[in-house]
Amino acid sequence: MPEEIVVRTEKRWLMIMAAMLVVMMAVIVVTGVTDALHPSSNVEIVDPQTLHLQGEFVESNLGAAVEPDGSVTVRIVAQQYNFVPICVRVPAETPLRFRITSADVVHGFLIPDTNVNTMVVPGFVSEVRTMFAAPGEYRMPCHEFCGFGHQAMWANVSVLPKEQFAGLSPVERTNCAPE
Ligand code: CUA
Repeated sequence: MPEEIVVRTEKRWLMIMAAMLVVMMAVIVVTGVTDALHPSSNVEIVDPQTLHLQGEFVESNLGAAVEPDGSVTVRIVAQQYNFVPICVRVPAETPLRFRITSADVVHGFLIPDTNVNTMVVPGFVSEVRTMFAAPGEYRMPCHEFCGFGHQAMWANVSVLPKEQFAGLSPVERTNCAPE
């Protein structure tokens, strides 16, 4: 291979690489200055400053709520260093929708052995849909380093037989933490 061809080819590749870098940097800068940066999973926004004052994440609205179609929506707020509520009861064999947001920094939300695994980013609502086939107890650890109390940040989800869940009051659905 003549040297001039090698040099020309290398120069072209160098130009292509430089152009790709410029495009990627431009995307980051443009999305940054136009406030368009968001987590890849969801673009639903919420104001973390007023979470506890208004909207769907006020304290009285947290926990498991039964929808008109029989599915269940679970709303949770992640904050340094716990989840609110710390424990939720949900029915087995029922479509579930977890809606979760953060009051401060980036947290993680994971239920082992299920498809539930998401980042929780302040300013955004993360939504995950799942269904438990059988009753059981699951732990929900925060799996995103969020500060010095990170390792102690976790909650519980208690999956009950469908019929048993139906008999619970709204308060019992939300509060199953051991006293
Ligand atoms: Cu919250 Cu780690």
